[in-house]
Amino acid sequence: MAEIEQQSAPGSEWWRTAVIYQIYPRSFADANGDGIGDLPGITSRLDALGELGVDAIWLSPFMPSPQKDAGYDVSDYRGVDPLFGTLDDFDTMLAAAHDRGIRVIVDLVPNHSSDQHRWFQEALKAAPGSPERARYIFRDGKGAHGELPPNNWESVFGGGMWTRITEPDGTPGQWYLHIFDTSQPDFDWTNEEVREEFRGVLRFWLDRGVDGFRVDVAHGMIKKAGLPDYTPAPSGGSMGGDDVEDVPYWGQPGVHEIYRDWHRVLAAYDGDRALCAEAWLPTLEQTALWVRPDEMNQAFNFGYLMTPWDAEELRDVIRESLDAFGAVGAPSTWVLSNHDVVRHASRLALTIDNPQGEGIGPRDEPKPDRALGLARARAATTVMLSLPGSAYLYQGEELGLPEAMEIPDEYRQDPTWFRTNGERYGRDGCRVPLPWSGTAPSYGFNDTGASWLPQPAEWAEYARALEEGSDASTLSLYKTLLRLRKERGLGSGSLVWEDLGSDAVAFRRGDLHVAANLGTAPLALPAGAVIVVHSAPQSGAVLPPDSAAWYTLS
Ligand code: NOJ
Ligand code: CA
Repeated sequence: MAEIEQQSAPGSEWWRTAVIYQIYPRSFADANGDGIGDLPGITSRLDALGELGVDAIWLSPFMPSPQKDAGYDVSDYRGVDPLFGTLDDFDTMLAAAHDRGIRVIVDLVPNHSSDQHRWFQEALKAAPGSPERARYIFRDGKGAHGELPPNNWESVFGGGMWTRITEPDGTPGQWYLHIFDTSQPDFDWTNEEVREEFRGVLRFWLDRGVDGFRVDVAHGMIKKAGLPDYTPAPSGGSMGGDDVEDVPYWGQPGVHEIYRDWHRVLAAYDGDRALCAEAWLPTLEQTALWVRPDEMNQAFNFGYLMTPWDAEELRDVIRESLDAFGAVGAPSTWVLSNHDVVRHASRLALTIDNPQGEGIGPRDEPKPDRALGLARARAATTVMLSLPGSAYLYQGEELGLPEAMEIPDEYRQDPTWFRTNGERYGRDGCRVPLPWSGTAPSYGFNDTGASWLPQPAEWAEYARALEEGSDASTLSLYKTLLRLRKERGLGSGSLVWEDLGSDAVAFRRGDLHVAANLGTAPLALPAGAVIVVHSAPQSGAVLPPDSAAWYTLS
C-alpha cells in the first residue's frame, strides 16, 4: 500500500508550531486572597509554566467588566478590572512572561460589549436613529405597539436574542440584539465608527507588547442583511456548531473584510503578532476561510475538540484538518479543552448526550468514569502533542483534572444556568480554581481558602506539587511530551499514516511512530518497537485499550 503522507504548511512564524496554554485568570492563582485569581497571581506562578514547557499563554478577559459572563462582557477595552489588578500588574506579568521566553496573547471581545460600556449607556440615553444607537443593533419591535421582538432569534444562553428598552421619556421603546446575555449587546460592525474604535483597541495592546489576540465570537460579528427569522435545530443553539450552512448570525461572509483590516493593523508591528479565531463553524473547510493568508493566523479546531473517542473519526478529523488548513497555507490547531466545554478527562468517558455549553451537574447520571476518562485524556493528549501545527492547552488539563460535577446550585455563575432556569448547568464545572499544593483549604490557590467556586474534595490528589513528585503523574507526562515535541521539531513537517488496524490511530513523524488504541482489546506494537513515551506507563510495547505511545523501531 502506498504511504499516505500529509505535509503541514511551510513557514517559520512562531504561531505555526506553538503550544499555547490558556489561563482563565479568575481560576489560575489568587495573590490577594479574595477567592478570585488575578494578574499578580499569574506572575507569581509563571515558573510553573516555564517548567511545563509551553511557548505562549492566552489570557481570558481581564478588562473592566461587570462580570456577568465572567469577563466576556467588557465595559472598557483599554484597562484592567480591579478584580484582577492594574495595568501595571499587566505590564509586570507581560515582562515576566517574556523574560521566560513565553509569549502572551490576550482575549479580544469585539462582537459585543457590556451593557455598562460607555457607548451603550450613551445609546440608551439617545434617540432612535441617533449615531449613539447606531453603534449597536437597535430596531423597532413588531406588533401594533412594537411589543414583539424584531425577529425570532434565540440567544446562545437561552431565551430570546432581543431585549426591549425603556426610552429616556419613560415609554417602552426599541429592542437591542444580544447573541449572548442581555448584558452583552452586539455592536453593529457595519458602522465605521465601531471599526475605527477597535483598530485603536488592537493598537493599545500591541503597543504594550502583546504577541497577539484570541478573537471571541469571530464568526458572529456580521449579521445577515434584513435580519431574517431563523429557528435552530433542537439543542443546536450553542456557539454555532449547528450543522446548518446558513445561520443569519454565524459565519456571514462580511466578517472577512474585518479580519483583512486587522491583519494590516498587526502587520505594521514587529515580531509576527498573531490573530486566533474563536469561530464555531460546521466544517473545517469553512473554518479555514478565517485563516487565509491575508486574514487571521490560527482558528481553533473545534471539529477536533468535538470528535468522540472513536478511531475512525479521529483519523478522519486529523486528515481533514491537515488538508483543510494546509490548503490555505495555515497551520492546523489542536485543542481538547477550554473554558466553554466539559474537561476532556471527563468528556471522553461520557455515556450521556451532552451538547456543548450544557455542562454536567448533580442530576446527570451516569457520571463519566474517572479512571477511564483520565486514561483516554492522557492518550488523547499523547496523540495531540505529536501533531504538526499549534496546540492549545487549558489550565488544569496538565494535572488531569476532571470536570467539577457536584457544584451546589447556589454557587453557579454561568448566565446559561440563569437564562434556562437551571435546565442547563452551563460551564462552571470546567472553571473551578486550580489545585496547586497541599490538601486544604483551596489547595494553594491562595492563602485564605476562599474560592469563587468550591473545589471538589478529591482535587487534593491532583495538586501540582504532588504531581511534580511523581514520574507517573499526568503533569510528568505533559512535561515529557512537550520537551520531546520541541526537541524533535514535531510542530512542523510531514505526517505519514500507518495501519495498525481499525481500532488504532497510527502515523509516523520522521522516525518517531505514534499509535493510540481506541478499541477494547490490547494492541501489540510492531516487533522492534522501543517506547519513547507511553500514556499508560509500565505497559511495555503493548497498547492497552485507551492508551497511546510514541515509539521508535530498532
Ligand atoms: C465565547 C467565549 O469563549 C465564552 O466563554 C463567552 O461566553 C462567549 N464567547 C460570549 O463572549
Ligand atoms: Ca484575587
